[in-house]
Amino acid sequence: MKRVKKEKRNPTTYEIHPLYAERYSPRAFSDEGVSREAVASMLEAARWAPSCANEQPWVFFVARREESEDFEKLASLLDEGNSRWAKSAPVLVVGAARTQWARGGDNAYAAHDLGLATAQLIGQAVALGLQAHPMAGFYADRAREVLALPEDIAPLTMIAIGYAGDPSILPEDLEARERAPRSRRPMDEIAFGARFNAPYLKD
Ligand SMILES: Cc1cc2nc3c(=O)[nH]c(=O)nc-3n(C[C@H](O)[C@H](O)[C@H](O)COP(=O)(O)O)c2cc1C
Repeated sequence: MKRVKKEKRNPTTYEIHPLYAERYSPRAFSDEGVSREAVASMLEAARWAPSCANEQPWVFFVARREESEDFEKLASLLDEGNSRWAKSAPVLVVGAARTQWARGGDNAYAAHDLGLATAQLIGQAVALGLQAHPMAGFYADRAREVLALPEDIAPLTMIAIGYAGDPSILPEDLEARERAPRSRRPMDEIAFGARFNAPYLKD
């Protein structure tokens, strides 16, 4: 099955880099596999994310479809809604965070920093012609058990990665969601000057 053509999917008001203009969270993936080198490159991009006190609290669990035993383990963690489409992705990842500082005590920025690393992973995916779809819909308790996680490592997200596929391969309801126009809050709701609700920019 073919990859779908890259295009500027996002109707931005202001110019942004193609990495961001082309990124989206697909449910339809091509059946083309993803090389180990590409996976390494995405993890390397994640590794170089900024983090509070350079703690680097992120931990990733990764399996390509070819790594079938591990892939099945990760796929078994998806909830029913995501399982419908995400188990067809050629790469699955679980993103987890070390919740304690190395020196002890709760790291309030652990989830934030896992998010930064995940954003870099996703950016590198797009740079390689791939797409990556983050998901909260998975069974964290099962993940703790299957991945043998210590108490202070919290599984927070999964990511389905692959080359974007033709939406017509999806069940009807998911195809409609895949083709629906993409939306964002207006600028005057997300960017303020030095006072809440004092818009910094308008669309
Ligand atoms: C933390 C997080 C959790 C998400 N969980 C899910 C999920 O469980 N299932 C899903 O289909 N999409 C999930 N998404 C994807 C969002 O729905 C998606 O990013 C949002 O609708 C915007 O669409 P876009 O990524 O195509 O721009 C999640 C995204 C993030 C960042």
